[in-house]
Amino acid sequence: MLAPITRVGAKFTLNDEGHDEAKGVYGDLLGEHESIKAVRALVARIAQSPVRQVLLYGETGTGKGLVARLIHRLSPRAARPLIDVNCAAIPATLMESELFGHERGAFTGAQFAKPGLIEAAQGGTLFLDEIREMDLQLQAKLLTLLDTHEFRRLGAIKSTRVDVRFIASTNRILLSEVKAGRFRDDLYWRLQVVAVNIPPLRDRGDDVLLLAETFLREHGARVGRTIRGLEPRVAEIFRLYSWPGNVRELENLIERIAILEREDVVQVKHLPDRILREVEGRAPPATLAADSLASAISRGFHDATEDFQRALIAEALKRAGGRHGRAARLLRLSRHALRHQMLKLGLATVQAAD
Ligand SMILES: Nc1ncnc2c1ncn2[C@@H]1O[C@H](COP(=O)(O)OP(=O)(O)OP(=O)(O)O)[C@@H](O)[C@H]1O
Ligand SMILES: [Mg+2]
Repeated sequence: MLAPITRVGAKFTLNDEGHDEAKGVYGDLLGEHESIKAVRALVARIAQSPVRQVLLYGETGTGKGLVARLIHRLSPRAARPLIDVNCAAIPATLMESELFGHERGAFTGAQFAKPGLIEAAQGGTLFLDEIREMDLQLQAKLLTLLDTHEFRRLGAIKSTRVDVRFIASTNRILLSEVKAGRFRDDLYWRLQVVAVNIPPLRDRGDDVLLLAETFLREHGARVGRTIRGLEPRVAEIFRLYSWPGNVRELENLIERIAILEREDVVQVKHLPDRILREVEGRAPPATLAADSLASAISRGFHDATEDFQRALIAEALKRAGGRHGRAARLLRLSRHALRHQMLKLGLATVQAAD
């Protein structure tokens, strides 16, 4: 397992204070968890650096596409193109000519010369999404290009020089692909020099709530509604759930709720069974129900403990049939102490008879 932190390559180190150079400038990689601040800081450094190849690692939906766009936007290359190539979506047989382009007559049907996506990204960034889907022979060509900054169109004699930054992404640990012989180890080590690990949502603490509320505002506004927030128990469930689809799963869920549900607060009944089932199985045994604790915390220590004291006294009085002396004994307080508490908590204004 990779640790949910940003790994840095040989040329880059995070500064020790975790100084968040990026904050405020790129609001769209949201999150206040230390691991996300570290990703933002690293992204800012990479963007400004001359490094030519970057590897983004993260589970599905963690924000690899978002980070790739950020790196481009924050770099001196921002005015030049960002070309996004999904290696899983283009058939292997077409990939080579798509990327490298071809000369006229390079193969049957090549009636005109055509530049590839690498040339189209000149001066900018080429994002190779799901790089492990690239076949081994193309991986070799890519490595040569990374080393020499030159390549040949299919059928060309002369090579072309390019200035492109390559950002590759993967949602699987590439080293196991290397061991299985599906990924070239030389390319792997080359890409690994500057790698960004984007942590899964479940490891980002309260960021799940911050993101949920942002998505509620955005998707609520889109359908003309104001959704005030999450019920305390829902917040608790969001913190416990494992979010296998990460930020995308959260955003899709919130969007669905904004569109389909009528209430102005997200409630447990709005959540799909799979989430509830998983969380039920994992919730720690609690002396106080988790939802009452969560709502207590949201009211603050002072108000919450006073509320609890009021509830205790009210319950003791009920059991004592309203008689203060008996209620005091149930609570192991003196009558005087009980009266004092009731006055303090606003439960009595004058001394009641026993
Ligand atoms: N930290 C974040 N703040 C705000 N939105 C985010 C954040 N991370 C991800 N998102 C949003 O979540 C969605 C999924 O992110 P993205 O497509 O970048 O994930 P991915 O890692 O590329 O996923 P996949 O592996 O499936 O391609 C996008 O709509 C993106 O804008
Ligand atoms: Mg993606």
